[in-house]
Amino acid sequence: MRSWSLFRPGGRAIVGAMNQRSIDIVAVSDHPGVRWWQAVASYGFVAGVAGLRPSRSLGHDLLLPAALAATPGAAELTLYVEPQWRRRGIGSRLLAAVLAQTSEPRLVAEVAADSPGEAFCLRHHFRHTLAVRHDLLTYCDVHRAWLGELVDAEHPGYRLTHWTGDLPAELRVEELLRSPSRPGDAVLTAADTDGDLAAYAVAVVGAPAQPRARQYGPAVLPGHRGRWLERWVNAALIQRLQEVHPHLEEIETVTAEDDSRLLALREDLGFGLLRRTRRYELVCDNRTGPDDAR
Ligand SMILES: CC(C)(COP(=O)(O)OP(=O)(O)OC[C@H]1O[C@@H](n2cnc3c(N)ncnc32)[C@H](O)[C@@H]1OP(=O)(O)O)[C@@H](O)C(=O)NCCC(=O)NCCS
Repeated sequence: MRSWSLFRPGGRAIVGAMNQRSIDIVAVSDHPGVRWWQAVASYGFVAGVAGLRPSRSLGHDLLLPAALAATPGAAELTLYVEPQWRRRGIGSRLLAAVLAQTSEPRLVAEVAADSPGEAFCLRHHFRHTLAVRHDLLTYCDVHRAWLGELVDAEHPGYRLTHWTGDLPAELRVEELLRSPSRPGDAVLTAADTDGDLAAYAVAVVGAPAQPRARQYGPAVLPGHRGRWLERWVNAALIQRLQEVHPHLEEIETVTAEDDSRLLALREDLGFGLLRRTRRYELVCDNRTGPDDAR
């Protein structure tokens, strides 16, 4: 998350009373598509920020278990207060400003598990809706021969196909697989039987120099489950992804903490825990009252 310096140019720290009453909460409108509020201290320094954007559907939400997909009709809240300014009510004042100046019916926030963010959400009557686990696979820990064996294993009646390119806003896997591959940031790996899609997984790389890709899926279509297809397409995707993007060093996935089947697959393939986050939701009928905003 973006951080605002509390130091003067030249590195001199700001001293003086960090009194939250000397903080002004101001709406700033220089970010298209996103609404921002700043908590500005008397020195003109920004002690905290709140941001609100429409809940983003990534198009490839289709690849996420329903619980993990974007929350339609909700706005995503981000809130950040500089560590030196915390526990002075600034976060609460920023939230109060957001609630007072928008008509969003629901806010969602994703916070690190067991963090001040989580305590803050609970204090402000957000409802816990989802526990998410982020896992990471590091290519240097992957046993190439073992991965190759997984990919080469026979799955009678099924074959693997790959597609590369940029994902369109609406992901239609069958259409993509019929279209020619082209340069782009996504790699799609699928298993089909006689042209019928059975399973697929997608990974998207970040900016060209970034070493980490994000994986979505795998998903197996009804009628094709119980045949180890998800492990197969995932192993093939891991292999293919680095062939297409040799600079990649790691792959991140997100999984609902209660999806034990998918978590077991991740572990089996060598993914390890990166961090845990929690999703919280505030129904704005229950707006934070003035007491809460302090
Ligand atoms: C979460 C965050 C924005 C809170 O900002 P803040 O200005 O410290 O929040 P407030 O002072 O208004 O805290 C309001 C209440 O939240 C709870 N709270 C906040 N931080 C807490 C902490 N570290 N431990 C326990 N409770 C905490 C308390 O109930 C607190 O009231 P109290 O101080 O009277 O006990 C800040 O810690 C932060 O920037 N964290 C990193 C980013 C993040 O997690 N954002 C959350 C997005 S919703």
